[in-house]
Amino acid sequence: METAPPGASWSEGLDETAVRPIDHYRFFDRNYKSLPNKLGWWTQEGQDKRFAMVIQDVEARTPLRGLTVHDAGCGHASLLKCLEERGVRREDYTGTDFFENALAIARRNVGADVRLVQTDLLNGEIPTTDVTVLIGVMAFYTPEEVFTILSKCWANTNKTMSFTVWPADPAYPQYLTIVDTHKAVERFIAEANPTFLARRETMEKHMDLIFTLYK
Ligand SMILES: C[S@@+](CC[C@H](N)C(=O)[O-])C[C@H]1O[C@@H](n2cnc3c(N)ncnc32)[C@H](O)[C@@H]1O
Repeated sequence: METAPPGASWSEGLDETAVRPIDHYRFFDRNYKSLPNKLGWWTQEGQDKRFAMVIQDVEARTPLRGLTVHDAGCGHASLLKCLEERGVRREDYTGTDFFENALAIARRNVGADVRLVQTDLLNGEIPTTDVTVLIGVMAFYTPEEVFTILSKCWANTNKTMSFTVWPADPAYPQYLTIVDTHKAVERFIAEANPTFLARRETMEKHMDLIFTLYK
């Protein structure tokens, strides 16, 4: 079972003065020395579970072997190891992130031969690949921004896109904002008009909903 550090909820400990999403990641980087990877994941176990679920949903219709993958908001590129186990070649992986510190760690983790690009998903260039995944990326955005990020990534996806969002749980202080985010996700899915949609709840504290869409 994934548990938060003592006293922490997903909103506690965020930088109250943050004005842009990247400020939150800088804050995590500075202050959460005890987190396994300082990306906002409370445990390695939680991160691994998300990876396994996303990969399972993507592979429900399309084996990953031989496909190109964009790991959008890749953080430390921890997902690459799991993708390689499923037959994705290193040269077919692109990790993007707007946070330079995350990319520096990613480079150390996976090596200089792997394509890692600094870009802002909101207004930067998005690589075109067979599969796009956004795991834990859209936590600090307005509903409109979530809609924009999803639409841009979907437009650059040939086959399958998988993403996580927070559950709309009344226990969270940001409940109303999250409800609006879910409406934006629904609007995105309606416009994307996927041929198949997988949706699952991870059912654990601090975990998310995972949506996977197929073209
Ligand atoms: C919680 S971490 C997850 C990292 C990785 N996906 C994982 O599951 O380990 C979220 C990452 O998304 C990145 N991110 C958030 N918004 C972004 C944006 N607009 N453009 C690029 N990267 C972004 C952050 O810098 C951070 O590294």
